[in-house]
Amino acid sequence: MILVVGGAGYIGSHLVKELVEKEEVVVLDNLSTGHREAVDNRAIFVKGDLGNVDDLLMVFRSYPIKAVMHFAANSLVGESVINPLKYYENNVAATIMLLKVMKRFKVKNFIFSSTAATYGIPHVDMIDETTPTAPINPYGRSKLMVEQILADFSKAHGLNYVVLRYFNAAGAHKSAVIGESHDPETHLIPIILQHLLGQREKVSVFGSDYDTEDGTCIRDYIHVTDLASAHILALKALLKGKKTAEIYNLGNGLGYSVKEVIETCEKVTGLKANVEMTDRRPGDPARLIASSQKIYDELGWKAERNLEQIITDAWKWHQRVSGTM
Ligand code: UFG
Repeated sequence: MILVVGGAGYIGSHLVKELVEKEEVVVLDNLSTGHREAVDNRAIFVKGDLGNVDDLLMVFRSYPIKAVMHFAANSLVGESVINPLKYYENNVAATIMLLKVMKRFKVKNFIFSSTAATYGIPHVDMIDETTPTAPINPYGRSKLMVEQILADFSKAHGLNYVVLRYFNAAGAHKSAVIGESHDPETHLIPIILQHLLGQREKVSVFGSDYDTEDGTCIRDYIHVTDLASAHILALKALLKGKKTAEIYNLGNGLGYSVKEVIETCEKVTGLKANVEMTDRRPGDPARLIASSQKIYDELGWKAERNLEQIITDAWKWHQRVSGTM
């Protein structure tokens, strides 16, 4: 049985939908940001808190867990600057609790959701796993701290683990049953699509004077279903004993500017956005593009869905939940 912590959240729920095809799954989620209805009904659901040792003990005593996939975290850069202790408590301290319980129950396989925010403002065009980490906000630091804890814990206690550093997760399940649902929403693609559905007055572009071709920030958008398939491959490698301590980037290897993302949303939907240029958002690096060569070489993974597919799937889901489809 595989324990998915945070399996009711955006990325976790997409992973669970794929994983239940292959494994028995138990989801532990406190529903602070996740949604109960997003959890595939073939998975067992336990409402509980990662930071609560009794909840963890109950799950580990009740189910024969052979691996843990850990998606449960707060992940908003801006919020982490305003409320850093929330991030260190929920992202770092709660993970320590989880590792302690895993050690007690001798569970040796672990997949951890990390982020491009561990790199800070990189000085290279393509970020690979040898690019130095230098996070510039508490969110990125909290994720990097866990990566470092995992390395030490693994050496001391023999944990086999894979860290996956996501770039910009986006899109929705092709069935349109689950998608990206945050409250408040801060991410670019859902904001544009909500605007095109008439739920927001306009789209604000945060900064048009960056050192990029059109002056707006460039990001590497990766379909949430491609993220899910990377987790499945990583899990397979761990369970076969092929990986012990590995870090992989997950991206498309292609960068799109904010303007290009807006244009692609207009193309996919056939609607015109009302766009305003505003000031930069603090903490935004100009360009973040992943090299995912390492995971391709070692596990055979590559992203299969491009930006247009990401937006097409996201649009279907947004239309469904807004009742226009
Ligand atoms: N943006 C706008 N207008 C908006 C929203 C976003 O112009 O209304 C811009 C941002 O400034 C940024 C780009 O669109 O340049 C993408 O912004 P998102 O908020 O969608 O995503 P981020 O790149 O800020 O964040 C993502 C993940 C984080 C992770 C980070 C790594 O959501 O968890 O990448 O840098 F930390």
